Amino acid sequence: MPDPHIESRIQGAVKVVTLSRVEKKNAFTSAMYETLTQELTHADADVAIHAIVLEGKGGVFTAGNDLGDFMANPPAGESSPVFRFLMQLVDLAKPLVVAVDGPAIGIGTTLLLHADYVVATKDARLQMPFTTLGLCPEGGSSLLLPRLVGQARATEWLMFAEPIDVERAREAGLINAIVAKEELSAFALARATALAEKPLGSILLAKKLLRDPHRAETKAAIAREGAHFVERLGSAEAAAAFQAFFTRKR
Ligand code: COA
Repeated sequence: MPDPHIESRIQGAVKVVTLSRVEKKNAFTSAMYETLTQELTHADADVAIHAIVLEGKGGVFTAGNDLGDFMANPPAGESSPVFRFLMQLVDLAKPLVVAVDGPAIGIGTTLLLHADYVVATKDARLQMPFTTLGLCPEGGSSLLLPRLVGQARATEWLMFAEPIDVERAREAGLINAIVAKEELSAFALARATALAEKPLGSILLAKKLLRDPHRAETKAAIAREGAHFVERLGSAEAAAAFQAFFTRKR
């Protein structure tokens, strides 16, 4: 059955995948990870597709993992949908452009570390609130973030867990470009199309050469973080933090 929360369309040689669960700020359920993994796998296998765009609907990228789903279906290990999604991202052969507007929380920020190009609006709200939620870094962020933005910034962003200023994220290299809200989707598609128009063999090789040196250790970091993350999900600290979210005053 098609997943109502993931839309996908083909524009020329680009597959555009849209997170579409606006009423829950595009928070990821296990089913959404599964669909997204399939979308990426199919894009890699389809010779007509040369690049992929991932974006969110409704002025939101994603509020991260659905906290209710985390409690109801906690990831149990390496066979879990979120783990398989992350591994597929690490192994993705074709270029991935991500467009970010509004909240990009938790995995909404950490997945950017696996993108080939990230464009955001000034309203993008990046945040990795793992320590606030009683959890721990995930998605390879404990390895890739310090490598990309330096130990001091990575420590600040992962330990204080406060929202990250978009301009600072751009200066640090986590975001490539900042554009106006109304231009975001077209800009992301144009960047992906520019990659799609290059000789495919060259683009695949450039990405492979850029990623190969880090691939095995990235996967090891995701597995290491994942084992702790699963443990933390069962902790009293995480239960209290999740409860605080669901009973917050609005
Ligand atoms: N998991 C489950 N539900 C979520 C969610 C999440 N991660 N993020 C948002 N939602 C739900 C809210 O519970 C609310 O549902 P309801 O209307 O049925 O009560 C709806 O989405 C809208 O969210 P709301 O908080 O009212 O929107 P907002 O604009 O005030 O704030 C966020 C948006 C993203 C800043 C805020 O929802 C938030 O902080 N979410 C949690 C982010 C998070 O901790 N993610 C996990 C990282 S590991």
